[in-house]
Amino acid sequence: MSASKTEVLSTSATTGALPRHVAIIMDGNGRWAKKRFMPRIMGHKAGVETVRTMVRHCAEKNIEVLTLFAFSSENWRRPEKEVRLLLELFVSALQREVKRLNDNNVVLKVVGDRSAFPESLQKEIISAETITSTNTGLKLVIAANYGGRWDIVQAARTLADEVAIGQLDASQIDEDALNRHLSLYGMPEPDLFIRTGGEERISNFLLWQLAYCEMYFTETLWPDFDGDAFDIALASFSKRQRRFGRTGDQVEQEQNA
Ligand code: IPE
Ligand code: IPE
Ligand code: MG
Repeated sequence: MSASKTEVLSTSATTGALPRHVAIIMDGNGRWAKKRFMPRIMGHKAGVETVRTMVRHCAEKNIEVLTLFAFSSENWRRPEKEVRLLLELFVSALQREVKRLNDNNVVLKVVGDRSAFPESLQKEIISAETITSTNTGLKLVIAANYGGRWDIVQAARTLADEVAIGQLDASQIDEDALNRHLSLYGMPEPDLFIRTGGEERISNFLLWQLAYCEMYFTETLWPDFDGDAFDIALASFSKRQRRFGRTGDQVEQEQNA
């Protein structure tokens, strides 16, 4: 069995378990604001509060990784003003939250193509990552200007470079080799995917990494998602039997062994 398969199978496969890694598409901010006759940015601001709540809950439950989709590679298609306000909100949230994250032993990592961001935001990201890099608690991964296809393409390009300089033979390219160059390398694979806001789609979030992830969709809009809503998602996860290709009987036998 290849190492990558071993890694997939070693994630929380047992019924009743907590996920090690939760990945969330935080959707519904705009509709939340619209319902209140407020500008969309107010929904995004309210969404930052939910992020804070979720970080606290995950840390308390000893969940290892929380990955949040903050801005997709397709979100540049939004009105220029909304994009600008979203980027400004990202900068101010980083500045405001980094101390609290650090005090709570959180490691912050931003994944995605940052080169498209304004210089000031890139600097803020590096600073927040550096400050929290030696922490040992929850890993908070923010996917910003991230696309699942982009992630796979940049990994493929790196492999091609390695082959071109003779560091790697094309025949050595397998799942592990590609995985090594993906943005979430070194972390457990996501076990639980949550999308708020009622849409049931992936929207180019983690494509490779969601291969065996349990999916959970809720109508609740992201600013309304709270600890109780999260507990309901966790309860749903804990009732599922993760088979990874095996039969239910095999999984039960293993659990009883
Ligand atoms: C998700 O909320 C946040 C981002 C994409 C940045 P939306 O802004 O997509 O909210 P809706 O889907 O319009 O309600
Ligand atoms: C996905 O939400 C991206 C983020 C939450 C950052 P969208 O609201 O942009 O997704 P679509 O366009 O409805 O699929
Ligand atoms: Mg949306």
